[in-house]
Amino acid sequence: MLNAETLIYMPELKTPRLRLRRLTMRDAGDIYRYSRDPEVARHVLWDAHRSIGDSRAYLRYMLHRYRTHEPASWGIEELSTGRIIGTIGFMWIQQDNAAAEVGYSLARDCWNRGFMTEALGAVIQYGFDFMNLNRIEAQHETTNPASGAVMRKCHMCKEGTLRSRLFNKGKYVDVDLYAILRRDFNRLGLRKW
Ligand SMILES: CC(C)(COP(=O)(O)OP(=O)(O)OC[C@H]1O[C@@H](n2cnc3c(N)ncnc32)[C@H](O)[C@@H]1OP(=O)(O)O)[C@@H](O)C(=O)NCCC(=O)NCCS
Repeated sequence: MLNAETLIYMPELKTPRLRLRRLTMRDAGDIYRYSRDPEVARHVLWDAHRSIGDSRAYLRYMLHRYRTHEPASWGIEELSTGRIIGTIGFMWIQQDNAAAEVGYSLARDCWNRGFMTEALGAVIQYGFDFMNLNRIEAQHETTNPASGAVMRKCHMCKEGTLRSRLFNKGKYVDVDLYAILRRDFNRLGLRKW
């Protein structure tokens, strides 16, 4: 059975360079700093923030989801600076199928340093070990290969390309679907932390 309690608590997750923790309203400045960047927003389903008010609205939405125990995101804090540099979390969780989808984004000045691979590895481990998930999915626009690289580095398998799966920023886009199963995770010995 899926462990619903773990959805409620969303505990802090630690990796060597990151702390994944619940967001608070105090994070608005950090969130705005990178979410205003159209390059960060290009392949995600939200628009670049136009003012810090947009970041506050996002945080209010996330805090509401924590309170109502709906799938939500952790803030990704860089341990060396204490700065929130991105978010990662579950987009949906299906209790009946013990399945969930992960989504993430990161400040542009932090790209290509292995941060999201580190964060996704921690969330996958949490999903299998504490939530009792059986399958974790992630998807990325085919024009966003860096995200596919993160999924592969976390041993997710590409299961196919979903044509015109999403309508994003004014057009239909193709999406690659990846997943990892609990049995893959155990067989490959991916438990790290
Ligand atoms: C996608 C994203 C999360 C990657 O995070 P990251 O911390 O830079 O990822 P990592 O450093 O762990 O790994 C990135 C990998 O992509 C590779 N990469 C980067 N740009 C690439 C490109 N244009 N084509 C192919 N691979 C690319 C890097 O070389 C690296 O792989 P390597 O370690 O084998 O060299 C980050 O770029 C981001 O937040 N982008 C904006 C939001 C977004 O797209 N979110 C995902 C929506 S599905």
